[in-house]
Amino acid sequence: MAKITAGIATSHVPAVGAAIDMARTDDDYWKPMFQGYEFSKSWIKTNNPDVAIIVYNDHASYFGMEIMPTFAIGVAESFEVCDEGYGPRPVPSVEGAPELATHLAASLILDDFDLTVLNVLEVDHGLTVPLSLMYGTPDKWPSKVIPLAVNVVMYPQPSGERCLSLGKAIRRAVEEFDEDLNVQVWGTGGMSHQIQGARAGLINLPWDQKFMDDLIDQPEVLQYKPHLEYMREAGSEGVELIMWLIMRGALGDKVDEVHRFNHVPASNTSVGHLILTPKEGDA
Ligand code: DHB
Ligand code: FE
Repeated sequence: MAKITAGIATSHVPAVGAAIDMARTDDDYWKPMFQGYEFSKSWIKTNNPDVAIIVYNDHASYFGMEIMPTFAIGVAESFEVCDEGYGPRPVPSVEGAPELATHLAASLILDDFDLTVLNVLEVDHGLTVPLSLMYGTPDKWPSKVIPLAVNVVMYPQPSGERCLSLGKAIRRAVEEFDEDLNVQVWGTGGMSHQIQGARAGLINLPWDQKFMDDLIDQPEVLQYKPHLEYMREAGSEGVELIMWLIMRGALGDKVDEVHRFNHVPASNTSVGHLILTPKEGDA
């Protein structure tokens, strides 16, 4: 049977992608941030999943004001890299996992999560930057990917409660899939950041660190945090963090912390990164 073996949370700052693409990761500005991912890059070499379900948001790159699904799942064989205005990032296209993705779509929709099914999708920095942070610059991404897009850019966003429950439903669905697959769930975005308006540049590291503590130990408390608190305390784009709740919900009640990292600032963003594994013996 398929099994969820780990969850990864990471910011997906577009400037981080640009630093990798322009070989500037050793610059004084960037080096301390990339050092926090050195552990992760070696960890994933021995813990590489067959499939990574990457929970991310499209930043009105492929979707737009015309169409903005609340939750959408990519079931295609592959996904091209989206042109976000400067040409697509020079990274490999993303190989899908259509059989598991189709199973997930069926299971989750019948479990009352009304996912939009995407037979075509181009993925933006929200999905490709986490791949680059974990895998560096390979010719081909080492794992298959199921993109799970969440609307966090346009009101109304899904509630934290809905996100945590979706994670739990993903766990049930994966465990029902009749193939021995090592599956990880990645939650992307965050942490505190605001990229426009009078409070542009807002970063709230103590709030971010408390969010991480709670995500690890008491995610059920976090699920009731209102969107307004994310926006007030973590900036208007800080609400991307609801996507981490989906990852956490997929790991079961108790988790072990394998790696934890914070860095401030990267572009306008407080960078946060976690590797968590389901606690042994936890059902
Ligand atoms: C920035 C961060 C993001 O997560 C994003 O999607 C866009 C911009 C930033 O810090 O500039
Ligand atoms: Fe973002």
